[in-house]
Parts: sequence; structure tokens; C-alpha cells
Amino acid sequence: MRILVTGGAGFIGTNYVYFVLARHPNDDVTVLDALTYAGNLENFKQLEGNPRFRFVKGDVCDAALAEGLVKQADAVVHIAAETHVDRSIQDATAFVRTNVLGTQTLLDACRRNGSVRFHHVSTDEVYGSLGSTGAFSETSPYDPRSPYSASKAGADHLVRAAWHTHRVPATISNCSNNYGPYHFPEKIIPLFITNLLEGKKIPLYGDGMNVRDWIYVEDHCAGIDLALRHGRIGETYCFGGRSERSNAELTRLILFEMGFGSDMIEPVTDRPGHDRRYAIDPSKAERELGWSAATPFLHGLRATIQWFKANPDWWKRVKSGAYRDYYEKQYGVRGVTRPVA
Ligand code: NAD
Ligand code: TYD
Repeated sequence: MRILVTGGAGFIGTNYVYFVLARHPNDDVTVLDALTYAGNLENFKQLEGNPRFRFVKGDVCDAALAEGLVKQADAVVHIAAETHVDRSIQDATAFVRTNVLGTQTLLDACRRNGSVRFHHVSTDEVYGSLGSTGAFSETSPYDPRSPYSASKAGADHLVRAAWHTHRVPATISNCSNNYGPYHFPEKIIPLFITNLLEGKKIPLYGDGMNVRDWIYVEDHCAGIDLALRHGRIGETYCFGGRSERSNAELTRLILFEMGFGSDMIEPVTDRPGHDRRYAIDPSKAERELGWSAATPFLHGLRATIQWFKANPDWWKRVKSGAYRDYYEKQYGVRGVTRPVA
């Protein structure tokens, strides 16, 4: 299968590209990524010269480029998005453009190339915020509350509309919070790990009692892959780690694992409209896809801390924004690693 992975140079995208290349020796991957602040071509330095991998720098809102690439693919795994809630609160423009318009642009390209399979990678945040009990599932009503989650909800609706109206063969997955290698250090886990490695304090929002359901990124990639290959067209699958932690508990664990005390916590003003609790009931994916979140949280957290300890050059360049210059100097590549046509 020839798979077009949008947003492949980001956190989940990079992990998914390596997942597919390792597990499906007959598949080829083309990454389409705009290399925003969150995309890093350095992630693929091990793939240089690999004939099964191609990188194309470009925007998912570029209809002509999307059309050309979709024509050459059997499947699109749409991962590209603006993803940070705090940034969406500052300015939602790029979120609406990439997440909503970008998704429709790809759906239009798939529609014009009838048989191209489309899998949309989405978030549990489209379902809103939970009280102290219960969990989201595929039948939960949409109730997005941040500009980020509202833009992802818009994209989900457009994907369903493309299936119902135009028969674009699509599936959607809504996943809980990921963590693992290549995670951009603006999100809580990589931010806290790298701050501590730099001897800096870690900013805990509000009362620290907001809850997230953590899933190791490789388990999410396995779910995406199963949904793509075995999911029923038109269906949605929810993935979650069955691993809820309050931010305060998560913070204590990171501090303990890294040998620091609670004096490193800096309580800061809460995020406006901060969703209190997310949790996923992944029974449908477990039942229909034979999927499960295999990585226990402590195991995944230790592996993640180890990865950041072992890759200081990566996260230091990412934190300073110097990774783009690095890549150009090192590899002299800007744009396409192999011709599109
Ligand atoms: P990320 O921010 O690390 O990466 C996003 C990637 O998309 C980057 O490589 C960026 O360059 C690229 N991109 C952004 N705008 C683009 C555009 N206009 N055209 C082409 N490429 C563009 O994000 P992530 O954490 O890897 O999340 C990936 C996807 O998974 C998103 O759709 C997100 O909503 C979803 N998701 C993430 C999580 C999580 O915990 N990280 C959980 C559930 C769902
Ligand atoms: P984040 O990693 O931004 O993911 P999301 O908002 O998509 O769930 O945040 C996870 C939780 O951590 C969320 O409740 C906000 C909190 N948080 C902090 O307490 N401090 C921080 O510096 C960040 C980035 C997040």
C-alpha cells in the first residue's frame, strides 16, 4: 500500500511513519508536512536514502499539491493539525485554516480520486469535559470547548459528511492524550521532563486536579493502523490508555522518576476554560479491531524520560527553534526529498 501521511514530521506522525515502515515491508510512505514550528525533518535522518520513504514539504490547504499526492496514494492518514490548546486560545486562525480547511481540501482530493481510503486522526477533546465519573465513547455527543477542539470537531464532521454525501471511504479515530518519543516540548510531559533536565521549574496550571487519560504513542499508532486496515468504513473508533492521572499525580511521578522534589513545581494561573477531565472507553476498538493499549503507564513514562535523556541535542534544538537551520546545514534539503511525479 502507498500511504500519504499528512503531518508526518510531528510527534504522532513521526512515530506512525516508523511504525508503518517497520511493520509493513511492502508499504511506501509519503509524508506531506508544512514544517510549522511543530514539524521537524531531523526526525527522519535515519530514513535518508530509504526508497520506501519520501518527504514533501507542503501545506494541506494547497489543493493542487494535495490532488497530485492523493493521486499517487492508496490511502491517506490525515495527522496534520495545529494541536496546542494554549496556542489556540492566543490565536485560533491557523487552527481553523489547517484543521478545518486543510481537512476539506484533502477530502476533496480523495473524492476526485474515488477509491482512496481516508483515515482521520482526531482527539477525545471534541467530546468536551467530563465530571468525576464516566468516559467518552463513539456515541458521546460533541461538545468542544476550546478553539483547538472546536476546529477538530469541525474536521470530524466534514469527514463524516464526505462519507455520507460523496462516499469517500473514511474512518475516524478519537484518541486521548499521547506521550512518548519526539513529543514537542510545549505539552505537559515533554515540557516538564526537559525543564527538569535544564534545572528549570515546572509550571502546573490551576489546582492541578485536571485529569487526562494517558496513552503511549506507539499504542495509538497501532490503533490508527488497525483502523486504516480493518476498520469499517464510515465508523469511528475511540482509543485511550485506560490510564487516568490528575496533573498533580502526573507531576509527582515525573519528579520522583527524575529524582526531584516538589520544590520544582511552580503553580501558575489556570488555562482559560480548562477542561476538567477526559477519559475514553475504548471497548469498541478492543472488540472490533482486537486493539488494546499494551504499554503500562509507568513503563511508558520511564521509556519517555529515557528517550529525552538520550536525545538532548534533539530537544535543545527544538526548544530553541534551531532545528530548521540544523537540518538545512546538515543535509542541504529544503522541500522534496524525491520528486513528486
Ligand atoms: P504536532 O503538533 O506534534 O504535529 C503536527 C504536524 O502537522 C507538524 O509536523 C506540523 O508541521 C504539521 N502541520 C501543521 N499544519 C500543517 C499544514 N497546514 N499542512 C501540513 N502540515 C501541517 O501534533 P501531534 O501531537 O503529533 O498530533 C497529531 C494529530 O493527532 C493531530 O491531528 C491531533 O489533533 C491528533 N491528536 C493528538 C493527540 C496528542 O496527545 N498529541 C491526541 C489525540 C489526537
Ligand atoms: P497539554 O499537554 O497541553 O494537553 P491538552 O491540553 O491537549 O490536554 O496539557 C495537559 C494537561 O496539563 C492540561 O490539563 C493542562 C496541563 N498543563 C499544565 O499544568 N502545565 C503546562 O505547562 C501545560 C503545557 C499543561
